[in-house]
Amino acid sequence: MLSKYIIKLESVSSTNDYAREILKNEAYKSDIVYVTTNEQTKGRGQVGNIWESNKGENITCSIIIRPNMIEIADQFNISIAVSLAIASVLEEYLPGVSIKWPNDIYVRNNKICGILIENSLIGSCIESSIIGIGLNVNQTKFSASIPNPTSLAIELKNYFNIDDIFTLISNKIALYMSRLYNAESAGFKNEYLKKLYLKGEKSNFKAGSIFFEGIIEGINEYGMIEIRECISRTLMQFGFKEVEYIH
Ligand code: BTN
Repeated sequence: MLSKYIIKLESVSSTNDYAREILKNEAYKSDIVYVTTNEQTKGRGQVGNIWESNKGENITCSIIIRPNMIEIADQFNISIAVSLAIASVLEEYLPGVSIKWPNDIYVRNNKICGILIENSLIGSCIESSIIGIGLNVNQTKFSASIPNPTSLAIELKNYFNIDDIFTLISNKIALYMSRLYNAESAGFKNEYLKKLYLKGEKSNFKAGSIFFEGIIEGINEYGMIEIRECISRTLMQFGFKEVEYIH
């Protein structure tokens, strides 16, 4: 069993930034430290985006782990474990849950959860990992600039107790992390592939300035996505930010 510590804040700029400060000060020694807040004033998304979340309506939290036995080359396993944990909780409520590579959680074609993982490295291993999670629970109105948001409330026409959902998510992540640490993660990649958004379906992508039609076949050993281009039948591999999905 991994030891856990939960810090609940009313308001903070970003739980990922708060988590970074805690790590610097080495303040908490538990295996997993959760920082959760009602409000972020500068919530961060991937690729420098802002993460929008109405006060008190959603889960905005960061999880600190120190997985010093995970090699840098295997760091995508952290993404896999966290995505699977969240997807499996949501599946208890909803049909149509999938994982959009690398680690967005989707309900059909809409995004319900974003994950921002920031790793610190030591030698060839991961010294610490801050896993930021923004899960839309009760928010039903989003800025027009957010491409395709959804939430549990939008999907299920019902409101949920944020603390209850947080407990389910935090326990499930602890479970998946302990499996990862105890080398019980052999099946994770297959579980991830089964839930991979658009896998096996002809879809449109953009890499640099090139648009192409392809079929997602899977991920390679480093977590890069593998897409077979439809015309040439070439199997291409892309890292994060190297390819975009075009809807
Ligand atoms: C994404 O763009 O999909 C990633 C979103 C991550 C948002 C969460 S909310 C809690 C944590 N703190 C942040 O500032 N960002 C992450």
